[in-house]
Amino acid sequence: MHPADRISMLPPTLLLLLNAALSVAQTRQTLPIGYVVSEKLAPNPPFFTIPTASQLAISVAMCSGTTDAALPRFFVTNSSSDASPGSSGGDNVFEIVLNQGHGNWTGTFPSGGVLGVEDAGQIPFEIGVSSGIPIHEWVPSPPLVGDTTATQALLFSPPFAPQTPQDPAYPNYALPDANLTIPSPPSNPTNYTLVLLPTSASLATMPQTACMLLAQKSSGTIVNQTLWPRDASGWRMEYRVTGLTAKTNYTMYVVENTYKVGGPIFFTTKSSTFSCPLVSRLPYCPSIGYAVPLPPPPAAQAMYDSTNLPESITTPLLSSLTNFTTTLSTFACGRDFYSPLVSCADCQRAYRTWLCTISFPRCGDADTAPAAAALLTSQSPNARNAAFPPGNSYTQLLPCIETCTAADRACPNFLKFRCPLPRFNAAQSYGVGFIDSGEDGVVGQGSTGTWADNYGNVWCTSGQ
Ligand SMILES: *[C@@H]1O[C@H](CO)[C@@H](O)[C@H](O)[C@H]1NC(C)=O
Ligand SMILES: *[C@@H]1O[C@H](CO)[C@@H](O)[C@H](O)[C@H]1NC(C)=O
Ligand SMILES: *[C@@H]1O[C@H](CO)[C@@H](O)[C@H](O)[C@H]1NC(C)=O
Ligand SMILES: *[C@@H]1O[C@H](CO)[C@@H](O)[C@H](O)[C@H]1NC(C)=O
Ligand SMILES: *[C@@H]1O[C@H](CO)[C@@H](O)[C@H](O)[C@H]1NC(C)=O
Ligand SMILES: *[C@@H]1O[C@H](CO)[C@@H](O)[C@H](O)[C@H]1NC(C)=O
Ligand SMILES: *[C@@H]1O[C@H](CO)[C@@H](O)[C@H](O)[C@H]1NC(C)=O
Repeated sequence: MHPADRISMLPPTLLLLLNAALSVAQTRQTLPIGYVVSEKLAPNPPFFTIPTASQLAISVAMCSGTTDAALPRFFVTNSSSDASPGSSGGDNVFEIVLNQGHGNWTGTFPSGGVLGVEDAGQIPFEIGVSSGIPIHEWVPSPPLVGDTTATQALLFSPPFAPQTPQDPAYPNYALPDANLTIPSPPSNPTNYTLVLLPTSASLATMPQTACMLLAQKSSGTIVNQTLWPRDASGWRMEYRVTGLTAKTNYTMYVVENTYKVGGPIFFTTKSSTFSCPLVSRLPYCPSIGYAVPLPPPPAAQAMYDSTNLPESITTPLLSSLTNFTTTLSTFACGRDFYSPLVSCADCQRAYRTWLCTISFPRCGDADTAPAAAALLTSQSPNARNAAFPPGNSYTQLLPCIETCTAADRACPNFLKFRCPLPRFNAAQSYGVGFIDSGEDGVVGQGSTGTWADNYGNVWCTSGQ
């Protein structure tokens, strides 16, 4: 028998009393520590009991509505477990102010506490109670855009499980092979969910919360996702997305472990005439992930990776790197030192980054690139890497000069690794002055301080 049926059999006066008692009991639902309570229709009057604890982080997240609409207000008190905190204030009553649909408060609850909700309305929300960091949180490092074509995107989650390079040591100073061995992925990776939406006014006014974002229908199709150790910052989930619309602004978020939000990151798809396909997942060039001047990949494959990339590109690259490593190893690496700051392993890493960046010309799109970007359009821009099929004219986004100077600085002098000087002709083959100031006031003069930003602007190719 349903409890309400039992109540209805009682005399009317007693029924009223019981109902009142029931709603009082309801108002004081206890919030469990370490869990999230999801509220659709807030109880009336809406008070939640907070258990006694030395320290708790209380967080709230709005799951629909707009940030400029009337939103509920949340008040917390740590004075006792039977107070009724609200906008009228009182001792130890704190408002949890919402910012883009999120709010949080951390404090001590020696005699428990109460969370009160005013103007609860019909907007569903979540309350999280944690004895550590707030359950609803921004992820500190954002997701990453590799590159786009007219209809595809190569996207990455924030990094996790950073890797510390195991550098060789004397007397067994063996540098890594040209073709690096990819370690096995972490067995318990962080769970990320990609949310990709066209940038629009409605998105900006939406609560930027995980419950709101997870309820959206993402644009495009993830044709493949896989863990990839892109760089020293760690593993990332790599998403290969197809089915996007040309020349469209998109906003990307990731939801980490159901409640935390990373982003937003913005990017624009290329114009419909852009014909370069994307390449990534190359063990010997793990950070390469962008559009390159190649014909479309073999049938049914959306993008290039080490399984379908022409050998005419891989073979000379690995051969150069092997030869460079052989020459570098003629130095008594690990026993003698050519610098107090850098080692042979640093030199090989910096050279690999430079070689990969030079070996894989990156296609740019004059239509969607920032005006200052280091773009080079020419009839035979493939001269730099003869392995790329000549003929199709494309616009190249030049490598950042810093990729070259990093190798110059990290390697011993006898290798005679030299970069062109900004005051002579460097700007013909490199993007100069975007990250650091170009010497003698050339080009960007360090204006951007970076090779790419969170708004989809890329000025030069960093190989990182
Ligand atoms: C309640 O929290 C405030 C702010 O953190 C703190 O100053 C106060 O001591 C706390 N009250 C109790 C009873 O712990
Ligand atoms: C949590 O509160 C802090 C301090 O008020 C604030 O800076 C931070 O943005 C809040 N986090 C979220 C996810 O609302
Ligand atoms: C690189 O090594 C992987 C195994 O780690 C192997 O499958 C692949 O064929 C190698 N690539 C080349 C070009 O030798
Ligand atoms: C996704 O890519 C990985 C690595 O290239 C491959 O092993 C896997 O089979 C692909 N999955 C699908 C569904 O295509
Ligand atoms: C994309 O965003 C940029 C910068 O916010 C804006 O200038 C441009 O007009 C937008 N493009 C489209 C197609 O909406
Ligand atoms: C990852 O998080 C999403 C969103 O909360 C959830 O639907 C999915 O089941 C989770 N996956 C794993 C493997 O836990
Ligand atoms: C690497 O060295 C070998 C042997 O000296 C040589 O045949 C080959 O051409 C070199 N590779 C490159 C890319 O220079």
